[in-house]
Amino acid sequence: MKFAKALKIPKFASQISNTLLRGGVMVAPSLPREEIEMTDATPGRSATPLISMRNIHKRFGSLHALRGASLDVHAGEVVALVGDNGAGKSTMVKVMAGVHMATSGEYEFEGKPVTINSPTDAQKLGIQTVYQDLALCANLDAVQNLFLGRELTGSGLFGRRLRRAESEVKAREVLGRMRLGNLSLTRPVGAMSGGQRQNIAIARSILWTPKVVILDEPTAALSHSAAEQVGTLIRTLADQGLGIVVVSHDIHNFVVNATDRIEVMRLGANAASFKSSEVTGEQVVNAMVGGNEGVNLAG
Ligand SMILES: Nc1ncnc2c1ncn2[C@@H]1O[C@H](COP(=O)(O)OP(=O)(O)OP(=O)(O)O)[C@@H](O)[C@H]1O
Ligand SMILES: [Mg+2]
Repeated sequence: MKFAKALKIPKFASQISNTLLRGGVMVAPSLPREEIEMTDATPGRSATPLISMRNIHKRFGSLHALRGASLDVHAGEVVALVGDNGAGKSTMVKVMAGVHMATSGEYEFEGKPVTINSPTDAQKLGIQTVYQDLALCANLDAVQNLFLGRELTGSGLFGRRLRRAESEVKAREVLGRMRLGNLSLTRPVGAMSGGQRQNIAIARSILWTPKVVILDEPTAALSHSAAEQVGTLIRTLADQGLGIVVVSHDIHNFVVNATDRIEVMRLGANAASFKSSEVTGEQVVNAMVGGNEGVNLAG
C-alpha cells in the first residue's frame, strides 16, 4: 500500500514527531525509550542491542531527511520500519548499512560506538543488506548467484568442478538452514518466481553469516502467499539469533503478522513504536499519517 506524498500533515506534527505510541497509548516524548520498549526479559531478546542508532540527522543539501531518528535492533527480533513515502525509512537503513553517512547522531554496535563510512565497514561488523532480485543474474542458477563475486577458490577444469561441488554443498547447507531445501540449485533464477528469487537474494546475504540483515521492501512485488513465505523465512533467521530490519508498506498483512516490533517514522523522526502482536494495521496507519495525535487508542 502506498500513501500519497501530498497527505496533509498537521502544523503541530513536528512538535509531536518524537512522541512515541506504545501499545496504542500515547507516551510523553520525555519518557526514556527503555521504559516504553519491551524489557530485556522478553524471550528471544538480547540485553544489549546489536545496533543502537540515536538522534540521527541526515541532510541532503538543504533537504533534512532524518531529524533525530532513533532505532534499536536486538538479536532474535524482527523490527519493521514503516512510514509514509518520503518519511526517511530508506535513508535510515542506508545510514545503518553504511551507504550514507549520518550528518550527526550516535551509532553503537553491540554496545560500542562505531563509525561506519562505507557498506564494507557495515559488512565487516556483520550488517548485510538484501538487495532485491535486481542484484541477481537471471541467466545464472541459484548456486552461481549465491556465490557471485566470491567464488570458492580453485583453478583449472578439475578445480572448477571441485569449486562447483563445494559451492553446491555450501548452498544446500545454507538453504537447508533457512528451510529452503526444495529450491532448485540448477534452474536459472530468471525462470523462478518472484518469491523464490527474493528467497535466493536473502540466502545470498546469509552466506556471509551476518548478525543483522536489512531488507528494504522485500515483499513489494510479491503475491500474498509469497510475502508470507518471506515472513516465515525472516522468522527462521530471527529464531537463529539474527536481528532483522524490514522496511515495508504492507502494514495490514506482512508488518503486523511477520514482525515483533513496529517503528513508525514520520517526517524523518520517530512517530510511534508498537509491539506487533498488540496493534492493528489501522492503528499503525493512523500513526503513519498522524491521524490520531492526542487520542488514547487503548480504550
Ligand atoms: N540521495 C538523496 N539525495 C537527496 N535527497 C534524498 C536522497 N535520498 C533520499 N532523499 C530524500 O530524503 C527523504 C526521505 O527519503 P527516503 O527514501 O528515506 O524515504 P522512504 O521513507 O524510504 O520513502 P518510500 O516509502 O517512498 O521509499 C525524501 O524527501 C527523499 O526525496
Ligand atoms: Mg524507501
